[in-house]
Amino acid sequence: MKLKYLILSSVLAWLPMTSAIAAGQVEVLHWWTSSGEAKSVKILKHMMEQQGHSWKDFAVAGGGGESAMTVLKMRAVSGNPPTAAQLKGHDIQEWGRLGFLTSLDSVAQQEHWDNVLSPVVANIMKYNGHYVAVPINVHRVNWLWVNPKVLKAVGVKVPTTLAEFFIAADKIKAAGFVVLAHGGQPWQDATLFESIALAVLGSADYRKAFVDLDMTVINSDKMVNVFRQFKHMKAYIDPQAEGRHWNAATEMVIDGQAAMQFMGDWAKGEFAQAGQQPGKDYLCVPAPGTQHQFTFNIDSLAFFKLKGTEADNIAQYDLAKTLLMPSFQRVFNLNKGSIPVRLDMDMSAFDQCALDSMTTFKQASLSGDLVPSFSQNLATTADVQSAIVDVVSEFFNQADSNPILAPSRLARAIKSAI
Ligand code: GAL
Repeated sequence: MKLKYLILSSVLAWLPMTSAIAAGQVEVLHWWTSSGEAKSVKILKHMMEQQGHSWKDFAVAGGGGESAMTVLKMRAVSGNPPTAAQLKGHDIQEWGRLGFLTSLDSVAQQEHWDNVLSPVVANIMKYNGHYVAVPINVHRVNWLWVNPKVLKAVGVKVPTTLAEFFIAADKIKAAGFVVLAHGGQPWQDATLFESIALAVLGSADYRKAFVDLDMTVINSDKMVNVFRQFKHMKAYIDPQAEGRHWNAATEMVIDGQAAMQFMGDWAKGEFAQAGQQPGKDYLCVPAPGTQHQFTFNIDSLAFFKLKGTEADNIAQYDLAKTLLMPSFQRVFNLNKGSIPVRLDMDMSAFDQCALDSMTTFKQASLSGDLVPSFSQNLATTADVQSAIVDVVSEFFNQADSNPILAPSRLARAIKSAI
């Protein structure tokens, strides 16, 4: 009898906590406010509501998340953090070090996260060996989004190298189209710069420059060439680009005003929302010169220590569990444009862009061509990242900036932020 009780109680201890016990509330801070992104968030909201919990949306607009981070800091220091917040890479470590994040080890063990995630991804989610964040997806950043009708009207082929890109760009411009849909915001400038740096430097030197912060690469002739090609892009952007949101730029490709956009595959969510089909209405191709490379961006939610009720703690637990459930991973990533972060997913429902992304992700991780995106906060600390973005964006937007002088400026800014 006693043995039976012991077995039963240990089985109960392993059962997932569910809403049958109590319904709580989750408040989730994120910056997913474009139409494709908002649709993806709604899936999570819906799945939490199905478990009996209520969802308090804490959306702070602004791609790249800069404004969201400012708001999060205010809320956290005033002792009132949300249940979870969109945090990435080094930021997770930073918030862990400050003592704000809660351990998710119990749900991680119960759901076998160590078995379904790649160790590289799992390590980013852990602080001091404990899970404090949950990964949601893998975005590839080095994509070029193309309107094939515009290219056809002009009679140019999809560019596969930077040299081909500039040749095609001149023809597209002469035909009266905007060549490059771009939003003049610092993080978007950095996103464009990053893909050019990847092509010009190659994966090894990209990693040396933006992960290892190796000054010999940062201050090299190769880097002068990165800045030179980057500056060249400016000639193909329309004068109204300043301040434009990334999704408004995607819209320009969708409606045929512009030919192309450099952007991560969250752009696919916008094409999908507009009812467009990949391979037909739009093309997703690797950023010129980066065919076998993959700059990764992993979205994740970090979980905060809560002062709330027991029901809210249960809701927090259920939120963490839901994020890695195969059913959520599938529907969320189909909408978001990313690929699932679980390694054991059935990919049959995914389109060609996602399948290409998955194939390149796997190959690149073996060949050394899988590198973290610095424009999306995955490569380095927030301080160094913002130093890089400042230099890059200022360079891009000053008419008389000189590519020969830019690398030493970049080196100085990085040194002062380390
Ligand atoms: C990134 C985020 C993506 C996408 C993008 C634009 O920082 O990782 O998921 O949402 O911003 O908002």
